[in-house]
Amino acid sequence: MNERLSETANRLIAGERLREADFRLLAAVPDKETGERLRAAAVAARERVYGRDVYVRGLIEISNHCKNNCLYCGIRRDNRALERYRLTPGEILSCADEGYRLGFRTFVLQGGEDGYYTDKLLCDLIFRLKSRYPDCAVTLSLGERTDESYRLLFAAGADRYLLRHETADAAHYARLHPGEMSFENRMRCLYTLRVIGYQVGAGFMVGSPFQTAGTLAKDLYFIQEFSPDMCGIGPFLPHRETPFAAYPAGSLRLTLHLLSVIRLIQPNVLLPATTALATADPRGREKGILAGANVVMPNLSPVKVRKQYELYDNKACTGEESAQCKNCLSQRVASVGYRIVTDRGDVKK
Ligand code: 5AD
Ligand code: FES
Repeated sequence: MNERLSETANRLIAGERLREADFRLLAAVPDKETGERLRAAAVAARERVYGRDVYVRGLIEISNHCKNNCLYCGIRRDNRALERYRLTPGEILSCADEGYRLGFRTFVLQGGEDGYYTDKLLCDLIFRLKSRYPDCAVTLSLGERTDESYRLLFAAGADRYLLRHETADAAHYARLHPGEMSFENRMRCLYTLRVIGYQVGAGFMVGSPFQTAGTLAKDLYFIQEFSPDMCGIGPFLPHRETPFAAYPAGSLRLTLHLLSVIRLIQPNVLLPATTALATADPRGREKGILAGANVVMPNLSPVKVRKQYELYDNKACTGEESAQCKNCLSQRVASVGYRIVTDRGDVKK
């Protein structure tokens, strides 16, 4: 057992603020004993804030058109092999109707950066969604937009915004994205979203190409300092039609360990057991919950488009109807002693 690691783990468990150098020790799979101690402490921390409730978010993948060319992403604009689709506002509202019947009280509208979804179209849609379902939260996950756009969408009723920072190291960011995208702008968007009043989600992939313990330490330090309301993490998984096709997938064990560390950095964070985790391991979601996650995001997109929203190869949950996906998840969550609740599931402050 590594003494310095064990002592750092104790300080994390005790709720101390850590330095970037401390997080470097926590950025690798630890020895078995320390790992189990961190996991148990993460589960206890989660239960103190959220009990054994797991929140569900209905994920509606509104478009796979994207003007960006992220090197890891299956819907990047240079992927010519992909059949593109976009959902109309009417189709999106029908997905939400189905979701509401199934007990979802949060809808996540996620998509590539697609100019079809103007501020006007989105504001109308958000306004209609919130009028029809005033007891629901609307979360947006539509990438980088202007400050003005973020303000208008918030004024129209959007409650939350997910924008993974992807990596908190500027040089690493530049190796994952083409030159036209910028780390500074990404970070600026996150701070703007916070100032406007959104509940904000950040996050990153585990095992993305060129990631090191050093870059991961920066991610963890950033999470501590920014304290996002949500944090999405999942293993990097290669997609055959991207420049990163031949890179190895991220480690499941490291992802689970980092879920526990993030839970301990911020005990009230909303932490999803992601689809990427479920894709990497058939019991990935259950393992995620047992590591400290408290959110699952079943797919509400129309089955006919699901396979087309493929960020990485072999994505899970693309064949099931929404109701099946929800039931399957409820059973999985119950199998590890937790329960899915019908609730907006806001962050507890
Ligand atoms: N593997 C895992 N996660 C991915 N994402 C995009 N491409 C991949 C991939 N190949 C993640 C990114 C993005 C989110 C929507 O999905 O972190 O922010
Ligand atoms: Fe569009 Fe990454 S290429 S989200």
